Amino acid sequence: MFFIMGITQGRKSFDYNQMMVCEHCGSYGRYQVYMTYMCLSLFFIPCLKWDRQYYVQSTCCNTVYSLAPEIGKRIARGDNIEIRPEHLTRVQAGYKSRVKRCVIYFSQTGTTRAAAEKIAEVKKADLVEIRPERPYEMSYLKTVLTSLKEIFTKARPELAMEMPDIQKYDRILIGCPIWCGLAPNVILTLLDVLNLNGKHAAVFTTSGATKPMKLAVKLKKTYPEIKWHKPLNANDMTEDEIRNWM
Ligand SMILES: Cc1cc2nc3c(=O)[nH]c(=O)nc-3n(C[C@H](O)[C@H](O)[C@H](O)COP(=O)(O)O)c2cc1C
Repeated sequence: MFFIMGITQGRKSFDYNQMMVCEHCGSYGRYQVYMTYMCLSLFFIPCLKWDRQYYVQSTCCNTVYSLAPEIGKRIARGDNIEIRPEHLTRVQAGYKSRVKRCVIYFSQTGTTRAAAEKIAEVKKADLVEIRPERPYEMSYLKTVLTSLKEIFTKARPELAMEMPDIQKYDRILIGCPIWCGLAPNVILTLLDVLNLNGKHAAVFTTSGATKPMKLAVKLKKTYPEIKWHKPLNANDMTEDEIRNWM
């Protein structure tokens, strides 16, 4: 009596569909999930499987991630479960180059700066601070009066900063506090100087309570040639919101 046996490596794909914005190439894509395993066969019949490893491949640029085993096992069972960034460890970068982003922000008292730094870190973007030539007073009331004056006179306060080379970037993320319901006029100076016509851009804001939509609509009206994306309320943003934005 003799046995025909063999040890082979197998691969099984799962029927899984989750849309995502790829953190590697910045495009929309889907996650494809598969499992690799070792298999012992007797008389060509698979008898024993071990060393199961779960992987995710993005359809946009073929980046490969290893998937947390507990999530992989649930997907293998057919559970409808969401794959989150913390479930993934990148093992092979995809073929497309990453979208290049620049975060440009103005902050008077530091809140928007903290938000800008967080966004730049999550998005792996360059970070540029907007600095007015004449810094605003630190007194709230005086700044409100200056801001109102700038709004009514359509002022463009001078900037004292080196302008980024905007052609290098695919997406421009502009951050500011909301002042009197609007973007501080230094943002208008920046948009006049940079000329973002045809570029993808969006604003993120911090504020006491006001949401950024009205401000974003106004900017879209004033600079219609820019390809504006939806604004982000940076007051209480989560990391997932940042990842899925722009
Ligand atoms: C001149 C001025 C006007 C403001 N207007 C508003 C407003 O209309 N709505 C609001 O919710 N917060 C308003 N705030 C609060 C700021 O938007 C908020 O404190 C912001 O997070 C400050 O950001 P920063 O620390 O980056 O300067 C105003 C603050 C100042 C100084």
